[in-house]
Amino acid sequence: MSIPETSTPEQGRGAPWWQHESLAVHEEQLLLDGTPLEALARQHGTPLYVYSRATLQRQLGRMEAALAAITDRYRIYYAVKSNRCPGVLRAVRDFPGAGVDTCSPREVELVLESGFSLERISFNAGMLSDRDLARVAAHGVHCTLDTFSALRRYGAHVPRGTPVGLRFDPAMTAGYGGGQKTAYGSGKFGFDAHECQQALRAAHEAGLRVDSVHMHIGWGLPEDAAAEVEAAFMRLAAIARRIPNLSSVNVGGGLGGRFRGADRPLSLDTWSGILGRQIAPLGVTIACEPGTFISAPAGVLLVEVNTVEERRGTRWIGIDAGHAINPCPALYGIPLEVVSVRAPLAPPLHEYTVAGHINEAADIWARGCRLPEVREGELLALMPAGAYGASMASDHCLRGQVREVVI
Ligand SMILES: Cc1ncc(COP(=O)(O)O)c(C=O)c1O
Repeated sequence: MSIPETSTPEQGRGAPWWQHESLAVHEEQLLLDGTPLEALARQHGTPLYVYSRATLQRQLGRMEAALAAITDRYRIYYAVKSNRCPGVLRAVRDFPGAGVDTCSPREVELVLESGFSLERISFNAGMLSDRDLARVAAHGVHCTLDTFSALRRYGAHVPRGTPVGLRFDPAMTAGYGGGQKTAYGSGKFGFDAHECQQALRAAHEAGLRVDSVHMHIGWGLPEDAAAEVEAAFMRLAAIARRIPNLSSVNVGGGLGGRFRGADRPLSLDTWSGILGRQIAPLGVTIACEPGTFISAPAGVLLVEVNTVEERRGTRWIGIDAGHAINPCPALYGIPLEVVSVRAPLAPPLHEYTVAGHINEAADIWARGCRLPEVREGELLALMPAGAYGASMASDHCLRGQVREVVI
């Protein structure tokens, strides 16, 4: 479909929503921290993830400032599952005080190899095998567990008195796009609040000492879920009050950012305000495990257009990347903005559907993309692409290979 000439060009409305301190357009060129993305794509080939170290550390700094405003006892554990590129881990490691959250033995080993000391690492996972528990226990990492079975079996691998966290179900659903695919409540994660005493007893019988409670609500929480988020953390605080000698409350991740211009994500201020009212009065450390908030805005995925063709009234763009290197659109319905690298600010001329090269009908990156004329051979930038892209890559159709650079 062509866009009527009367439609307002993006250019006329000021800077596009996706620009930020590190991602800018200068003299028609798309730059990440001053580096032209086109040159990087030509140098390294496509598909290429490019991450901004400055953005990663800026986001960590923002979160730290928001927590420092409500408490002097806080801890940020960056969720490694969102992006474990070595340069990304280095950026987190070099940020004073930042820790890492892990969810598998291999992730624990990776962050140890990357130079994180034990006290900067947390571990939080479910449905763990004895092999998993033995490996994590051998490293001495603090674990948060969420089944009676895991408590019982973990106790057999660690010395008596080993501290452990208990994860609780948020008992509500909130997340990006209404939460159908992005909410964690009432699913496989976490004890119910009414199981608290039973879980404490199970931990005690296993020789463990409960020192923390945890709740992760969902992915990409929107601002209009603020009241529900506050109610969930109020329930978490009530659980925390029932546990003697607690040293920390972990509020998980869930903060996102914009994925389309119209998104209204839960703001850092709203989030820290909720924590200030509900969790800070407990007087314990407030821990969190942000993934998306830290890594998503730091990343851009550069791809090459191989096909431009009209079929049944739709203008299709085919690109040299599919859901094997970023399952977010196909799996969760999470959109990515598509920007022309050749002419990032040019007014849109057509609406396109952007499809990947995987043999699956679901391999669609975006529909209804308003772009200037797109030609075969040119580059597109997909963003924000720093979270849950390369880290979730598979090798489906033997197409999983992707390069990553950190600038
Ligand atoms: C337990 C836990 N903590 C933290 C995160 C990171 O979440 P986000 O990327 O929404 O910040 C996740 C994401 O799946 C999670 O499951």
